Amino acid sequence: MNKATRKAVIAGNWKMNKTPAEAKALIEEMKPLVAGADCEVVLCVPFVDIPAAVEAAKGSNIKIGAENIHFKASGAYTGEIAGNMLKELGVEYVVVGHSERRQYFGETDQTVNLRSLAALENGLKPIICVGETLEQRELGYTETLLKFQTKMALTNVSAEQLKDVVIAYEPVWAIGTGVTATADQADEGNGFSREAIAEVYGKDVAETVTIQYGGSMNAKNADELVAKVNVDGGLIGGASLKAEDFSIIVKAASK
Ligand code: PGA
Repeated sequence: MNKATRKAVIAGNWKMNKTPAEAKALIEEMKPLVAGADCEVVLCVPFVDIPAAVEAAKGSNIKIGAENIHFKASGAYTGEIAGNMLKELGVEYVVVGHSERRQYFGETDQTVNLRSLAALENGLKPIICVGETLEQRELGYTETLLKFQTKMALTNVSAEQLKDVVIAYEPVWAIGTGVTATADQADEGNGFSREAIAEVYGKDVAETVTIQYGGSMNAKNADELVAKVNVDGGLIGGASLKAEDFSIIVKAASK
C-alpha cells in the first residue's frame, strides 16, 4: 500500500452466497469488528440482498456494493440491472468484469468497459477486475494481457472519472483455488496494471489509483500482500463470508 497517494480498499465479494436474512446477520456481526478501520470497507452482495445490506450497514463504516451492472440505462435486457436502480438503493461500488462473469457469462473487454462507464455515469465506483489465466501466465503473456485488459476497461474514462475507479488484479488461477499469488507476483501484476494507467494518463495519475489484489486472499496472507507497495487492499471472496476472517484482513489494511 502507499497510503500517501491512494486509498486502501478492502472489498468482500460474496458471489452467489447469502440470502437477505443471512446478509443482515453477517453484516451485524461484522460491524463492530471493522469499526474504526483505516481503510475503505466494502461488501459487494447479491442484488436481492442489497436493501437488507444497506439497512444493516447504516451508521457504520461499511459501504455496500453490487456484483454487476448492465451497460444500458433501461430497456429490453431481461435479467439485467441498471445503474440508476443500484444508485437508488444506496449502492456505492460495483464489481465489473469479474473473471467468473468473463468465463461463464461471456463478458468481454468491451462489455467490461461499457459496464464501467455505466457505473461512473451513475455515480457508482467500479471495481474493475483484470487477470490472466494459468495458461496465459505460462505462455509469458501476463504483462501484455494485464496492460491490455486495463486499457480496454478504461477506454473513454476521463482522468477525472479515474478518481472513482478501483482496479482489482485477480489472477484467474488464484480465485477460489486456495492458491494465492505470492506477494511478489501480486505486486508485479498490480504494477503492470499501474504502468498501463501511467501510459495513458501519466505517472502522477497512476500513483493515485487504488489497485487491489484478489485471489485466495485470507486472514493469514493479507499482511504480507498489503505490505507490497502496489497492493492497495484486496477483493476477497471466500474469506469475506466469515466475519472474523474478513475483519483480520481489514485490520491488515488499516496498518
Ligand atoms: P477468493 O475470490 O478470495 O474466494 O479466491 C476472490 C474473488 O473472486 O474476487
